[in-house]
Amino acid sequence: MTAAEQGSGQRRLRAGVIGLGWAGQQHVAAYAADPTVDLVALSAMEEHLLTRFGDEHDVPGRYRDWKQMIAEADLDVVSIATPTFLHAPMATAALEAGLHVLTEKPMAETAEAAESMVAAADRAGRVLDVAFNHRQRGDVTALRQVVESGVLGKIYYAKTGWLRRQGIPGMGTWFTKTASSGGGAMMDIGVHMLDMALHLMGEPEVTAASASTHAEFGPLGRGGSGFGVSQVEEGTPFEVEDLATAFLRIDGGGTLLLETSWAQWIPYDQCYVTLYGADGGASIEWGGPPSDPYQRLNVWTEVAGMPAELQPVVGEDGRHARAVANFLQKVRSEDWAAHDGSLALRRARVLDACYASARTGAEVTVEN
Ligand SMILES: NC(=O)c1ccc[n+]([C@@H]2O[C@H](COP(=O)([O-])OP(=O)(O)OC[C@H]3O[C@@H](n4cnc5c(N)ncnc54)[C@H](O)[C@@H]3O)[C@@H](O)[C@H]2O)c1
Repeated sequence: MTAAEQGSGQRRLRAGVIGLGWAGQQHVAAYAADPTVDLVALSAMEEHLLTRFGDEHDVPGRYRDWKQMIAEADLDVVSIATPTFLHAPMATAALEAGLHVLTEKPMAETAEAAESMVAAADRAGRVLDVAFNHRQRGDVTALRQVVESGVLGKIYYAKTGWLRRQGIPGMGTWFTKTASSGGGAMMDIGVHMLDMALHLMGEPEVTAASASTHAEFGPLGRGGSGFGVSQVEEGTPFEVEDLATAFLRIDGGGTLLLETSWAQWIPYDQCYVTLYGADGGASIEWGGPPSDPYQRLNVWTEVAGMPAELQPVVGEDGRHARAVANFLQKVRSEDWAAHDGSLALRRARVLDACYASARTGAEVTVEN
């Protein structure tokens, strides 16, 4: 037993990562920095990324074939950071092989695929978790504490958005094909804001969605960015939305507004969650130009009968490191049945209802 193991009393876990784009690289860094984990295997299509991250972190197993990795690398846990349509088949195979799985957001390209993942986790009796790294932000953690203290009272309205000025990822790759991504801005970055807003509101159920989607940039080849390492397939049409808006009904009569864009005529990227409660309101905001980014957390309430504005102290951002640490904690808790991906499935069902509403032009009931 090593000093790290003796100190923590934790069993060492053997970890692998599938996918080495930006997302996979965050998982690699998180496992490599954890003294109670051995990062023993990587899988990706790009030989140069296997070599680069394999060498950088002394990872012995490097596989072009992820199935071979699952079969041979004797893993306890695996992170899946591949194109979204591969999450369900990869997670299911890994769970069936007895591994615990942390997959990237969005959970899957459809709620049906996400349901099959939860069913696989339940059958296998293993942990299935989804990396919602943005809810590990310092301002989100602080605001969650404010909400839990009861200062805001009952929250009956919220609005949230992530608007990019020019940030369509992987134009002409899996990102902009419906079958492989499941959707555009709402699926990719709107899901983070939906997750954060519902997390901050205390996990109410979304009962109905009325949404619309638009594609005014992508089809013209405008709004692209350098995000994504996957190969461009020439001639791939732009099939997904680059802007989406949604009006969501919340259990108990509340509402949540969501807006999101990959590209829009705005001065700079903007992200926010605003909560409206019976006894107080609160907002987190971040964005701004790269030369002058901003981040704010404000709470408005009453102190001693007077209107008051509070600015809680914000701790460090947890990012992927904390999302991975939370996953490992669930694995070590051995209360595996409690962590089968059901919460993330609820996000997938809301997104499904939003896309159905956008297609039909009518409000759609969310299956819960
Ligand atoms: N949490 C976040 O903040 C965040 C940020 C970016 C992306 N993501 C999510 O992470 C996932 C990947 O996104 P990305 O931007 O890293 O994508 P990317 O296209 O840049 O990289 C995809 C990676 O998957 C690998 N891959 C594809 N098919 C494979 C196969 N059959 N076997 C093994 N590896 C395979 C590719 O080789 C590549 O390394 C997506 O679901 C995306 O939504 C999350």
